[in-house]
Order: sequence, then structure tokens, then C-alpha cells
Amino acid sequence: MKRQLPRWKNIRPLLGWSLPTFSAQDRKLKSVVNLSEMRLLAKKRVPKAIFDYVDGGANDELSYARSQEIYSRVEFKPRVLRDVSMIDLSTHVLSTPSALPIIFAPTGYTRMMHYQGEVMVAKVCEAHNLIYSLSTMGTTSSTEIGQQVPNVRRWFQLYLWRDRDQSLRFIEEARSAGFEGLMLTVDTAIGGIKWRDMRNGLTVPPRIRLKTFLDMVLKPKWWFNLLTTAPLEFATFRNFDKPLSEIAAKVFDPAVTFEDVKWLRSVWQGKLIIKGVQRVADAKELAKIGVDAIVLSNHGGRQLDRSVVPLELLPNVREVIGAKGDGPQIYIDGAIMSGADVLAAIALGADAVLIGRAYLYGAMAAGKPGVEKVVEIFRFEMETAMKLMGVKNLTELLPDFVNIRA
Ligand SMILES: Cc1cc2nc3c(=O)[nH]c(=O)nc-3n(C[C@H](O)[C@H](O)[C@H](O)COP(=O)(O)O)c2cc1C
Repeated sequence: MKRQLPRWKNIRPLLGWSLPTFSAQDRKLKSVVNLSEMRLLAKKRVPKAIFDYVDGGANDELSYARSQEIYSRVEFKPRVLRDVSMIDLSTHVLSTPSALPIIFAPTGYTRMMHYQGEVMVAKVCEAHNLIYSLSTMGTTSSTEIGQQVPNVRRWFQLYLWRDRDQSLRFIEEARSAGFEGLMLTVDTAIGGIKWRDMRNGLTVPPRIRLKTFLDMVLKPKWWFNLLTTAPLEFATFRNFDKPLSEIAAKVFDPAVTFEDVKWLRSVWQGKLIIKGVQRVADAKELAKIGVDAIVLSNHGGRQLDRSVVPLELLPNVREVIGAKGDGPQIYIDGAIMSGADVLAAIALGADAVLIGRAYLYGAMAAGKPGVEKVVEIFRFEMETAMKLMGVKNLTELLPDFVNIRA
């Protein structure tokens, strides 16, 4: 074969060089290709105690590890010779179109992860036509979200208080702030045990150790943002003249029962979503009460360790509730970290999934561009996997596309 001297014009197209960016943040974010790398970048950007609070789970973190493990055993059975030049990733969440079958889960204290907090995350949802759920334990109130992100589809997550009048006040605030859905979390009769947070002193009230404090000092940008913006607070309880520990003790009412769900159904005219269901019989009971959606969830493995894995429970719940379109919608969450995970859940019977840690990794890694990139990664991975599976839209994704390897 005849050799030739290397020519620049042949080499140039192989190089992905672009103009250098001077912000280390942009450079690092650009190099992230998936959620595992986003997680690692997040770990570098915030103090260990904050990262652990997001990343961790209850006790030995078995529930979370099992959820991760089952997604690694998902095997797809693609069909071939289908025209997938145009595909559609959208769906209907509670009768309204959503760009992706992905809902942003409620996560408390978001301004601790990134100083722009819930408003920033909700703006990303608004831009992408995705639903944002605001936690009762949020650092932004439902009124503020309504005012600052008026066009985002939004649900308010509630922990029901024994004091019904107080619960009604939260509900009324959410209603006037334009929240279309009320999401009652039922897997937290009391808070679980989180060893990582206990070791780091991230408890209520906080007991930050010197080691944790010194580690925080090593993240000056995070500190600077925290100290130069409004103080962190549980915005829902802003007007409560009580210490944090007293408020926190009231938030979880261990006496809540199905009767309270019936009561909620009678006082809330919007969509009612129940989050944290972990048994077929409970899902059936809730369907009878007439809730609009059920989230099969163990809170991302953050409350009761060793609780069931939502993806394993899903087919059984789908069987008793009936086909998609009959009865309440069914969502699942926990360890959903890729577009392929989303597709597996949809194929096995979910109408949509919730993501929590995934978007918080994006927020901790790079704020708004980080959360945007998380959405982009999910969209790109879903689109690629769907085309390779020979599937044009989500309704075509049926259980026989998935095998869970033993
Ligand atoms: C930091 C953090 C805070 C959370 N706070 C709440 C909360 O206030 N209310 C709630 O119902 N769920 C809360 N969750 C659970 C999520 O809504 C969701 O069920 C879980 O994150 C799903 O698992 P994933 O993080 O692996 O996606 C929280 C999760 C995280 C990671």
C-alpha cells in the first residue's frame, strides 16, 4: 500500500475541538455523558454531608442497592425492521400531555443542594413541559413557586398532619398557587434511620461535627452561595413560631389511615396522587377510594430499609388495577438513572416514573445547566434505546419487550 504524509485536512474533521471555555464548571459539565458521571461531578462540588444526604438511604441501604441491581438485570427484546425514523417520547400524565414519562419527585431542602433550589428546578420542568412536585419540606413555598414559575405543571407533596385545619391551610395555599395535584406521601409514618446523616450530624436539630464543618469549608463556592442568599428554611412552616425539632415531629403523623385519604379526596377537588405504596392490596384499596394515581415507591430506599423493590411489584399491581387507561395511573420510582430504566418501567406497566436523586445530582454538579443536562441525557438515552428496540411510541412498549435476567 502506498503511504502518504499525514494531511491536516484529513485530521481536522476527526478532532472535536471547539473554542476553549474558561469556566471549569462548563468544561466539566460538557464532559459528562451519563448519570453516573453526573453523580461523580456532584460529589466533587458539594460538601460530603450534603452529597451523603442526597445519595444515601436508610440503614444498610439495601432497598436502594436492590433497586439499582434489578435495573442492571433488565434485558430488552428488540423487534427489527420497523420504521423508527420518527418516534414520540411523550405521554399523558393525568390526562394532560407531558413531553416525557418523567415526573420530578418531591425532594426536601433543595436549596441546600444548590442555592437556587426549587425555583431553578421548576424552571427546567417548565421549559421542558415536565411536572414538578414540591415537597412539604421544601425551602420554597407553594406560593413562591406559583409566582415565580407560573407556567410549570405542579403538584404539592403533603404529609398529612393530625391537625386537619393545618393540613387544610397547606392545601388551600397550594390550590391558590395553581397546583393541579396533591401528592400524599404515605411511606413515612415516622422518619427512617439514616446512618450517613447521623455520622455527619445532619440531623434535626443539626449536630455538625468539626470534621464535617472542615469538609464544608473546602467547598468555598457552595458556602459563598449559601451565605450570600436567603437563609435556608422549611418554607411551608415559615410562620410557625416553633423550634425546627418541634415542627419536624409534627410533620409525620403515624396515625394516618385510609379514612384520611377518603377525607382528602372529599376536600381536594384537584388530582390526588398517593406516593409510597408497597403492596398490591393497598393499591387496590386506594383505587376503590378513587385516587387519580398511585406511586409505587419506597422513598428511594430512604425510610424502611429492606422494603420491596417497586419494579418487582409493578406487574402485580398493574394486573389488579387493569390495563393502562383503566383506574388510577401507576408510577414508580427509585434508582431510575437512565433512559433504559425509564423504558423498562413503562414496558412493565408504569404510566410514568419519578426521578429524585438524578436531578439533584445535576443541581449539585452545575445548578440549572446540570438539571437541564439530566433531562437531555434521559431524552437522548430513551430515544436511542427506543429506536434500537423498534418502538415508535410508549404505547407500543409492552411487557414482552423486557426480561428480567435471573
Ligand atoms: C434528598 C431527597 C429528599 C427527599 N425528600 C422527600 C420529601 O420531602 N417527600 C417525599 O415524599 N419524598 C422525598 N424524597 C423521595 C423522592 O420523592 C423519591 O421517592 C425518591 O427520590 C426516588 O428515588 P431516586 O432518588 O432514586 O430517584 C426525597 C428524596 C431525596 C433524594
